[in-house]
Amino acid sequence: MRQLPPDFFRAPYAFYARLRAEGPVHEIQLRTGVRAWLVVDYGLAREVLRNPAIRKDPHSTTAADARRASSGDSGINTSNERLSYHLLNADPPQHSRLRRLVTPAFAPARIDALAPRVQAIADGLLDAIDRCSDSTGPLDLMSEYAFPLPITVICELLGVPIEDRDRFRAWSAAVVDTTRASSEQMRQATDAITEYFDGLVARRRAEGLGADLVSDLIAANTDGDRLSGDELISMIFLILVAGHETTVNLIGNTVFTLLGDPARYRALRGNPDGVPPLVEEMLRFNGPVNVATLRYTTTPITLGGREIPAGELVLVALGSANHDDRHFQDAARFDPQRAPNGHIAFGHGIHFCLGAGLARLEARIAITTLVERYPDLRLAVDDAELRWRESILIRGLHDLPVELAGAPVLR
Ligand code: HEM
Repeated sequence: MRQLPPDFFRAPYAFYARLRAEGPVHEIQLRTGVRAWLVVDYGLAREVLRNPAIRKDPHSTTAADARRASSGDSGINTSNERLSYHLLNADPPQHSRLRRLVTPAFAPARIDALAPRVQAIADGLLDAIDRCSDSTGPLDLMSEYAFPLPITVICELLGVPIEDRDRFRAWSAAVVDTTRASSEQMRQATDAITEYFDGLVARRRAEGLGADLVSDLIAANTDGDRLSGDELISMIFLILVAGHETTVNLIGNTVFTLLGDPARYRALRGNPDGVPPLVEEMLRFNGPVNVATLRYTTTPITLGGREIPAGELVLVALGSANHDDRHFQDAARFDPQRAPNGHIAFGHGIHFCLGAGLARLEARIAITTLVERYPDLRLAVDDAELRWRESILIRGLHDLPVELAGAPVLR
């Protein structure tokens, strides 16, 4: 049985390449001692993500052993049962039902309409950076830009006060950074989230619904069907975590990779059309979701020539599939012109990311705005000094120290 090497979080792709050379699926032991089957091949990853026999609902009896064994090692921790009734824990027909109810809230026209507001938030954050740009020393781009941009968007979208965002950040990190947070911290975080969202939903119901996403989810109704109270707070919880942990790192990983080649970074200036394909390639090359959320087998199944018994955990390494050179030519090369791209950074099949449109919009605006304002931005430390998060779910940096290098370009 394989184990994750000590440098896995810094350099996952080298490990994945070794695994792919040996076979498409591997039995591995995670740091917490949990055993799982890791799928590393592109074709098999897509097959598993579409396979109805490989399930997600943790409430079924077949899942009980697998879930107990996992003790939150990968995926979004649900130590509070009331937060567990969301899309990523559901299989059809329940998944289809939930997805029907929440999809209108993410309609493309609605997401596109957010563009001016996302732009204003990006401008405002860079204005604040400008104001302190004469203070010496590097600036942490994660905490000053990559993090507050999507968080402000998600807080405004949900209709929660922005003052609460630091609390959300801590709760959200406790839920996904399972190697750092103790199970007691996770329990406290999920209890606090539950209490907070119960209060938020109760206030909306009492004070009247508004134009925010929480109001939309309360009002969501298909042929008389509605979200139950627990489904509602579970869905808000999932959107909150997805909004905190993913786009943040897409922006961070993109800036980090671009600054490795300052000419490429600068070349984006005045070339906004170059940004969307670059963001797509970044999703493939160093996307923010390393391994998809937990799945488990319900019957004995053969995957990539391996016999896997029922009730076993299956992890799909999206980061490996996206580097599979049997599918992507010259997969280890970052190529913003790659077309077609075909990455699976947003998953595949029925659980395909509901927030993909929003994430793309935010990342494109974040990068375009940064490059226009700070064309000479550069990394303030060596790559080796950067700290990668120790979560098998999320691939991202703790901090990204940069030097603004010269005066900002005034708008
Ligand atoms: C770059 C940013 C993002 C990436 C790479 C990403 C990636 C993913 C992936 C890989 C899945 C499927 C997981 C699996 O099958 O195990 C997923 C599902 C999901 N994502 Fe995202 N996500 C991003 C941003 C967002 C945002 C901003 C939101 C919401 C505001 C969001 C909401 C969701 C939801 C609700 C699901 C569950 C869909 C379902 O089960 O039907 N995501 N995402």
